[in-house]
Parts: sequence; C-alpha cells; structure tokens
Amino acid sequence: MLIDLTGRAALVTGASSGLGAHFAEVLAKAGAHVAIAARRTDRLEALAARLADAGRTVTVIEMDVADRASIAAAIERAEDALGRIDILVNNAGVTRTKPALDYDEEDFDEIVDVNLRGAFLVAQRVARAMQGSGGGSIVNIASILGLRQAGQVASYAISKAGVIQMTKVQALEWARHGIRVNAIAPGYVDTELNADFWESDAGKALVKRIPQRRLGRLEDLDGALLLLASELSAYMTGSVITVDGGHLVSTL
Ligand SMILES: NC(=O)c1ccc[n+]([C@@H]2O[C@H](COP(=O)([O-])OP(=O)(O)OC[C@H]3O[C@@H](n4cnc5c(N)ncnc54)[C@H](OP(=O)(O)O)[C@@H]3O)[C@@H](O)[C@H]2O)c1
Repeated sequence: MLIDLTGRAALVTGASSGLGAHFAEVLAKAGAHVAIAARRTDRLEALAARLADAGRTVTVIEMDVADRASIAAAIERAEDALGRIDILVNNAGVTRTKPALDYDEEDFDEIVDVNLRGAFLVAQRVARAMQGSGGGSIVNIASILGLRQAGQVASYAISKAGVIQMTKVQALEWARHGIRVNAIAPGYVDTELNADFWESDAGKALVKRIPQRRLGRLEDLDGALLLLASELSAYMTGSVITVDGGHLVSTL
C-alpha cells in the first residue's frame, strides 16, 4: 500500500453498503483504525467480521444522520473507541427519483435532511473534536449532480450542490484549527442507491454519454480517498475532486 495510515483513526458514515463500506475497507487496509456508522448495524457487523478475518479491527457504531441526538451519541462512541478522530468520511446519503413538479415536502426534506443537514451536523460535531486534538481531514462525499443537473433528482442535486458549497465554507472557517475539508464528487457507480436504473433503457443510454463509456467501479475512488485522507494532501483544502470517467466534460 503506497499510503500508510497506521496510527490514524477514521470515522466513515453510511458504511453499511456501497461506497461507504468500500471506503472503510480501503482505510482499514491502509492501516487506519476505523469506526463504521449507519442505521443497519447488522450489515456493519457483517463488514466488521469480514475485516476481522483480514486482520483489521473496526468498531461498529449505530448512527442516524437525520437525528441530531443520534449523531452526538454516535460520535461520542466513536471518540471513545478510537481515542480521537483524524479522518472523517462524510458519506451517508439517500436519493429519490421523481419529477420536481410532483414533489411534496417530505420528498424534499428526507433527502436534504440526510445529505446536507446531516452531513453538516456530522462534520460540525467531528470538527469540534478535531479542534481540540490538533486537526484532521474531512472528506465530504458530494456528486457530479452537485455540479451539473439531471432530471428527476431535484432534491438530491440540490443537496449535493449544498455539500460542495458546505465543503468550501468549512475549509475556510476550519483551516485555522488544522482541519482540512475537501470533497469527492463521484460520477455514477453501480450501488444499491441506483442499481435498478442501470438495467433500464435510460440507464444504458446514460452510460453511452460517459466519455469512458462505463460506470465507475468502487476502486476507482481509492486514489482520491487516500489522497484526501492522508498528509499527501496537506496543502489541499476546499478542493472538489471529480471521479467520473469524464462525465462532466461530455460533449454538448
Ligand atoms: N452510487 C453512485 O453512483 C454515487 C455517485 C455520486 C455520489 N454518491 C454518494 O455516495 C454516498 C454513498 O452512496 P452509495 O451509492 O454507496 O449508496 P448506498 O449503497 O445506498 O449507501 C448509502 C449509505 O448511506 C447510509 N444512510 C442513508 N441514510 C442514512 C441515515 N439517515 N443515517 C445514517 N446513514 C444513512 C446507508 O446506511 P443505512 O441505511 O444502514 O443507515 C448506507 O450505508 C452518498 O452520499 C451518495 O450520494 C453515490
């Protein structure tokens, strides 16, 4: 492993599936002590058991990022288990597919509460801890839908645009505390978030519009994750790294 995170402590939210489970595994394999958080603790336990077989110790934490009290309790547990938090991967997210004209308040609130308000509260709580322990690295997981738009995902795109601006604001305010805040904006990766879509005609047509003509794979995100989590990015804060096979530069 090129990047050694031995002795570093990381918290990954939304670690019960998809990107988050993968991020936790990558950080653990790079040597970090990792706490994995989500609502479905059975899945977290399964991931912890799998990583234990590979000789890695991870700590399972129940956390609902839509609930401020749950966030506070969960991060306290993570601090107890890890000693401190050096790296936060702020990854929990949800989506919903619906025309914007058909939205009701719940459609909007559910997505924004998890993806934006939840991400803000998690980062804020962790940053308060990092402030007292000499700093750290926060990696917010945005999306190319925060930078460009697509139909039927209004609240998701709005929430992810918010995550990108949130990253820059946090980077500005927290640099003085030694806290770096950057974002990864992934293109489309086949996970439970969007699995049904790739079988549809619209999904197949979308893949043809990606310059590299394929969906992202989980491991395509490893370089950006390890760069931002480690001291290799010591002079980076407020950056947004897109990992999308060229999707954002697709031809008009
Ligand atoms: N897949 C893509 O193509 C893609 C592209 C760009 C960005 N992203 C972003 O990457 C992140 C992970 O997405 P994914 O594709 O891996 O989706 P996923 O497989 O559906 O995983 C989402 C994760 O978020 C957690 N989560 C959802 N609501 C939560 C809540 N209220 N409290 C705590 N955890 C919650 C889920 O855990 P529980 O349900 O167990 O709580 C799960 O672990 C998201 O922020 C997503 O927007 C994904």
